[in-house]
Amino acid sequence: MSAMTIAKHRLPQLLRDMPKAELHIHIEGSLEPELIFALAQRNGVALPYPSVEALRAAYAFTDLQSFLDIYYAGASVLLKEDDFHDMAWAYLTKAASENVLRAELFFDPQTHTARGVPFEVVIKGLTRACQRAKVELGVSAALIMCFLRHLSEEDALKTLDEALPWRELIIGVGLDSSERGHPPEKFSRVFDRCRDLGLHVVAHAGEEGPPQYIINALDVLKVERIDHGVRCVEDPALVQRLAREGVPLTVCPLSNVKLCVVKTLREHKLKTLLDLGLKVTINSDDPAYFGGYLNQNFIETFAALDLDAAAAYTLARNSFEASFASAQEQASWIARLDEVFQRSAD
Ligand code: ADE
Ligand code: ZN
Repeated sequence: MSAMTIAKHRLPQLLRDMPKAELHIHIEGSLEPELIFALAQRNGVALPYPSVEALRAAYAFTDLQSFLDIYYAGASVLLKEDDFHDMAWAYLTKAASENVLRAELFFDPQTHTARGVPFEVVIKGLTRACQRAKVELGVSAALIMCFLRHLSEEDALKTLDEALPWRELIIGVGLDSSERGHPPEKFSRVFDRCRDLGLHVVAHAGEEGPPQYIINALDVLKVERIDHGVRCVEDPALVQRLAREGVPLTVCPLSNVKLCVVKTLREHKLKTLLDLGLKVTINSDDPAYFGGYLNQNFIETFAALDLDAAAAYTLARNSFEASFASAQEQASWIARLDEVFQRSAD
């Protein structure tokens, strides 16, 4: 594309305007404190925080686990189909306002079924929001079911069995929660089954865990994308492999700062990885907890790393190409992306 010489001060608006996909968003991580309190009241759930402000004040994390403890507590207000719908609808309307044309939403069924909420309630509520998004917002939304890696593979296999009647409502599976001490190979059998079912497969790896977890996610779980993956920079041979094989990384810059994976955004390796030819994408991870939705991630990262319009185009295009949407849909979104860049050059 041309338009790559756009003035720096016009970059934030271009980042907001450009069509994009979000591929790494935990829908339970989009639950804003206000909605947590509203749902708690609606469902008669007692919260260990007296107010929205007190809850928000607790969002000072030292690592992934310190976040997960609060994230699972927040999800405890989700009980009814409408709760899951309302949560996903709130995210999807926000995403539409940020020119997100495609969203692949992670959800954590075990967080809910362990509390006695039936799988059916979760999937029906989320699906209703996704279907509405297509019709009312023009956003294409799909669901990726994540297994919690701190639980056993038997529990994951049981969850997969529960999901089977709803197989057509799920585009793929992922692996999330506490990474350290729970390597990808712990889930080799359940991922084998998922691939046999024709599900797409992704996994969190190399967020807090070592580069070897990325290698094992690729070689053992045979994932199509790596979620986070930023610790690949510690292994130059792995970086070369990721570039050569075009493995997409769903990088989440604000998350990495909030969970102390990097000290500051300026030290983030996103630009290094882009320059080395990796298929990097930008995502929000858990936007209600990490201080920003997708456009905020783009704007702050571009300012901190002095990225330019060419990088914006590459990142947006990567997000569509790395999605699990059809080639035809991807092509139509990329055509819209090209139009926006063409216009900004005029
Ligand atoms: N669940 C929600 N957000 C997560 C993250 N950043 N890493 C692992 N599991 C998660
Ligand atoms: Zn994540």
